[in-house]
Amino acid sequence: MDVINKLIRDGQLAREEYIELLEYAKDKAAVERLKEEAVRLKEQYYGRQVYLRGLIEFTNYCRNNCYYCGIRGENTKVQRYRLTKEEILSCCEEGYGLGFRTFVLQGGEDPYYTDERMEEIVRAVKAAYPDCALTLSIGEKSYESYRRLRLAGADRYLLRHETANEEHYRRLHPQSMSLVARKRCLYDLKSLGYQVGAGFMVGSPGQTLETLAEDLEFLKELNPEMVGIGPFIPHHDTVFADEPAGSVELTLFLLSVIRILLPKVLLPATTALGTLDENGREKGLLAGANVVMPNLSPKGRRKQYELYDNKICTGEEAAEGIAVLSRRIEEIGWTAVSARGDYCG
Ligand code: 5AD
Repeated sequence: MDVINKLIRDGQLAREEYIELLEYAKDKAAVERLKEEAVRLKEQYYGRQVYLRGLIEFTNYCRNNCYYCGIRGENTKVQRYRLTKEEILSCCEEGYGLGFRTFVLQGGEDPYYTDERMEEIVRAVKAAYPDCALTLSIGEKSYESYRRLRLAGADRYLLRHETANEEHYRRLHPQSMSLVARKRCLYDLKSLGYQVGAGFMVGSPGQTLETLAEDLEFLKELNPEMVGIGPFIPHHDTVFADEPAGSVELTLFLLSVIRILLPKVLLPATTALGTLDENGREKGLLAGANVVMPNLSPKGRRKQYELYDNKICTGEEAAEGIAVLSRRIEEIGWTAVSARGDYCG
């Protein structure tokens, strides 16, 4: 348990020590110890509050072909859609009424949404809801594009690094994409003053304890304000259709570890975690997460934004299910609050 004590004491480890740490993922006592420390830190910085984000999946067109993703450009079976500015605003209106004070605009890398169009959308949302934070999750762009969107009013940006290991990155993505480019985007976003989110899938094909150790090391170095992790879940129309899903237990273990590495991080209990385990969200919160992101997309579109099979998007995962979700959060002793929920740094 030396390595666990060291992580708790120093908030970081050396590469080989991360590997040793990850070997404790199935050790009950270790899991408990990390969970306790993670929850203690979360409560120290954020109290017993859980932040809500309204997720608006506004386009499922994508120019990329990530091997794991259901909406990759070459998947001809997907029925593609785009939301207009007005449709996006009406999602926000519904969300605002439900108490959301952060909206996340997520989409594939869709060239239709030029900088001009995105700026217009960002300005419109910020003008209509000046007390809300706006998060973008629209992939890799130039420094100049990120700068324009930041000036238009975007506050935060989610861009998972997916894996910090070069070889593993190649295994998950086509030649047209690179880890170097991905990291460049994350550092650009940081330098522009966005609150930045990185992250990865747990159990993606080719992931090993070594690549996970690199992910943890990279997160510590980047020091992002947000980290999104969830289990990999195969999608039937992808190269990885027959690969096994990632483990809920390992995801929970990593949530605790990440909370200890980055004590003030905004850490969601993700949809993928809720998809693999019906109590996934609660378990995530109890492991150190402090954010949930219900789906605010138009109901008829949610099935079309299918990154992986059986993605939950109704019930408590839906924004309309917020009352049930809030009650389940109360049951574990916390409160889902109506607040922007900025990074507390
Ligand atoms: N399983 C789990 N997560 C996935 N994502 C994409 N495809 C899958 C999948 N099959 C995640 C990626 C991406 C985020 C938006 O969704 O990590 O960054």
